[in-house]
Parts: sequence; structure tokens; C-alpha cells
Amino acid sequence: MRLLIVSNRLPLNGVQQNGKLIFEQSAGGLVSGLSAYLDSLKSTSAQDIEYIWIGWPGITVPDKMQPEVKSVLSDLCASPVFLSEEAMDKFYLGFCNKIIWPLFHYFPTYTVYDKDYWFQYQDVNKIFRDAVLEVIKPGDIIWVHDYHLMLLPSLLREKLPHTPIGFFLHIPFPSYELYRLLPAAWGNEILRGLLGANLIGFHTQEYAQYFLRSTLRILGYEHKLGQILSQDHAVKVDAFPMGIDYQRYHSIPSGSEFGHNLKELEQLLHGFKAILSVDRLDYSKGISNRLQGYKLFLETNPQWCEQVVLLMIVVPSRVGVEHYQQMKRQIDELVGEINGRFGTLNWTPIIYQYKHSPLDSLLAMYRQSDVALITPLRDGMNLIAKEYVASRTDQTGVLILSEMAGAAKELGEALIINPNNLEAIAGALQQALAMPETEQKKRNQVMQHRLKGYDVVRWSGDFIQELLQVQKDQFFTLPL
Ligand code: G6P
Repeated sequence: MRLLIVSNRLPLNGVQQNGKLIFEQSAGGLVSGLSAYLDSLKSTSAQDIEYIWIGWPGITVPDKMQPEVKSVLSDLCASPVFLSEEAMDKFYLGFCNKIIWPLFHYFPTYTVYDKDYWFQYQDVNKIFRDAVLEVIKPGDIIWVHDYHLMLLPSLLREKLPHTPIGFFLHIPFPSYELYRLLPAAWGNEILRGLLGANLIGFHTQEYAQYFLRSTLRILGYEHKLGQILSQDHAVKVDAFPMGIDYQRYHSIPSGSEFGHNLKELEQLLHGFKAILSVDRLDYSKGISNRLQGYKLFLETNPQWCEQVVLLMIVVPSRVGVEHYQQMKRQIDELVGEINGRFGTLNWTPIIYQYKHSPLDSLLAMYRQSDVALITPLRDGMNLIAKEYVASRTDQTGVLILSEMAGAAKELGEALIINPNNLEAIAGALQQALAMPETEQKKRNQVMQHRLKGYDVVRWSGDFIQELLQVQKDQFFTLPL
């Protein structure tokens, strides 16, 4: 039995070494969770499931290099989908990140409803279908991931009527009022596209309910306890809150890099309380609200000046989309303004990095920070919040989390704030910095217990088990 995982990006980083293109497996949570789950299957049931990941290799590969790249990647359990720059421009930057991403994150005014983007989205989903058909064998299971590939389940279903197909959406599914802003034909086809799957998973019950509501209003499909009888097969819709690789964040990494990073940070922060902020650069992450909240905190709590530092890591992302460039300028200006206004010769209120941070250095920051300030305006889940809590081996530390993040549903012991309320951000910072250690520990203990119990291994295992069950049950539930 094999599991075919299909996502826009492969979990690999392409690097040039001595004029050659080398690919290294990235340390993403989904990869490690799935590998651990598949290993556990092997040891507990002697069932041998391997996986193949199908997706875009992260760069445009010239035609003549494609066979070589394909063979290199097949040793890493990956099968590349090659896409031209033009296709990526209209599909990835266009339809995915100028229509679906802003709309599903409640930024309807950022959308650009260009029909060429839609045509390219349809075409690229068909390219992915062909890539799956090229590698599929009898008995395989397919698991499609995220908003780039919402047409893929039904494109595959047409060709593979009996194959178990699962789909998981990593971003929010919006309320019907937002969803119906999509031109009707597109919105219709996307819902039908998703319904090609046997199981459709979301991070929260709310997103699942919104999806069911849209299928009822737009396609007229009723559901019974999340089960829809689509034209020819049963579809189950359910919530699977994604977990993290708990042990990886909770244990001390091997190798000297982590220890070195920790020492460096200790020296840098010498005696200051540290507030941590880590995100991909995205307007949905509420980074400027966060900075405004921090500014208000310093204004209203002058006793904390020269006592506290905001360690802000922003990871470059989607630089080809204008709203991301605007956001970057806005952040740069705000950081400059706050540092210029409050800073002294001995103290810089914000230490700001605009670059990718390797896991070891991220982990050192989690361990060294007294507070994590996570304030998205809208976020499907937010795994950083979970990683911060898991990494606090002595159970101290305070998480401040936006109620607009899917993770807030599971991390109710954090200080939950509305990210549009600057007074609430400033107030939560004050409360977090003054919180007694016993209370910090009490809150984190409960959250750690929950995160450990439902980690990414459990998450992927539950999804796959449920997918196989739905596929099995449908022979009993389908009308004759
Ligand atoms: C979100 C999406 C992922 C995506 C990631 C990075 O988490 O749900 O599918 O891979 O952002 O975005 P990028 O555009 O760089 O792939």
C-alpha cells in the first residue's frame, strides 16, 4: 500500500552546489509527522505503507534538466510537477494568492478577480491530475493538501472511481457571505472539485460548518452529521486540528548549533525580558497591529522601557504580490518609528530580522523568550503558537494568542486577545510580563498535555484511518 501526498510545494529545498542542483528534505511538520505515523504502522501492524510526495519543486527547472531532477527526487520519495514561470505567475501568485488566500482570510478588498488566473488554476490542477495518474498504482491512497489544489479531488475521481481520496485545507474556510463573492461558476466548480474527495478535513469545526453551509446554499446538498451524499459517492466533512511534532520541540536537539544559538541569545538579551514574534510576512498575520500594540504598551508602561525587548522574526514570503511588498514597507517604517522614538543608547526596543530562521535558532528563541505574542487577524491554525508552548520544557512562559487563529480553540489557557484591540494587546503584555511563575506553569501544563496527546502523528493517523473507514462505509450508505 502506498500513500500519495499531493501539495503545491514539495517538502524539499533546492540548493545550487558546485553548479549542480541539490535537493534537501525540509524539516516541515507534515513530513516528520507522516514519516513517524508510517513507521509506527510498520512496527505495530507489520503493514508496510510507503509514501510518495507529488508537488512543485520550488523552482522553474529547464526542460533539459527535468529528467535528472526527476531521478534525484525519486530517491527522496518525491515526484516533481514542473510548472513554467508563466503558469506559476497566474496560478500561484494569481489565483491562489490574489484571490483565494485574501478571500479565505477575510480580506475581500485585496482580491483581483482575473479570469486568466482562473483558467490557469484549472489548467494547473489538471497538470497535477496527470502527475498523479502517472505514478498511481492499484491499492494506493491519495491525500491532497490545501487551497492550491481544490479542483484536484474531482479531477481524480473521474479517472479513479474507487480510490480513497482525502483532502485537507490548511487555511480557514470562510463564511458563506464571503465565499459567495467568488464569481458563481468558480465557486461552484471549487465546491464540486472538493466533493470529489471521500473525506474533507478542516482545522476547526467552524470551518467545516462554513463549508457545509456553502455546499447547501450553492449546490443544494444537505448533510447528515457531516456526511454528504454527492452524485456517486459519500463524502465526510470533519475537523482535524493539526498538531505539531511535540517531541522535536520539547527535547534538546543534538548537535552544537542549538547550544551555540542559545548562548548567543542569552548574551544579546542579557537581563531583558523577551517577547517573541515569529511569522511569515503576510498581511493576515497582524504584524502591524502587533507593533502598534507594543508601541501602546511602551507608551502606557514607561516602567518597562529598557527592561523588555521585542524579538521580531519575519520570514520573506510571496514577494511577487504587491500587498506583501506594501506590508513589508509598513513593518519597516513602524519598527523604525518605535526604535527611533523609544530607543536609547543602551536599549533597542525591537530586534528585527527579515529572513528565514533555521529550526535550531527558532528553538533557541522559543526557549529564551518569556512571552510569545501571536496576533493574526485570521489564521487557519498557527503552529508557531503550539511550538512555543511545547518548547517550554520548564513550563514557564506566556502565550498571547489571537482569537482569530484556529489554534485558539485548543489553547484556551493562553491569554486570548482580539488583534484589532490595541488596548487588549498592550494589556495582555502587561499581564504576561507580571504573571507569577506558578500561574504560567499551571496554564502551560494543561496546554502541553493536550499538544502531546494530539500531535502531528496522531493527526495524520486519524485522518488516514477516517479516510479508509469512509471509503469502506460508503458501499453501505450509497443509494442503490
Ligand atoms: C500556508 C499555506 C501552505 C503554504 C505556506 C507557505 O501555510 O497553507 O500551503 O505552503 O503558507 O506559503 P508559500 O506560498 O510559500 O507556499
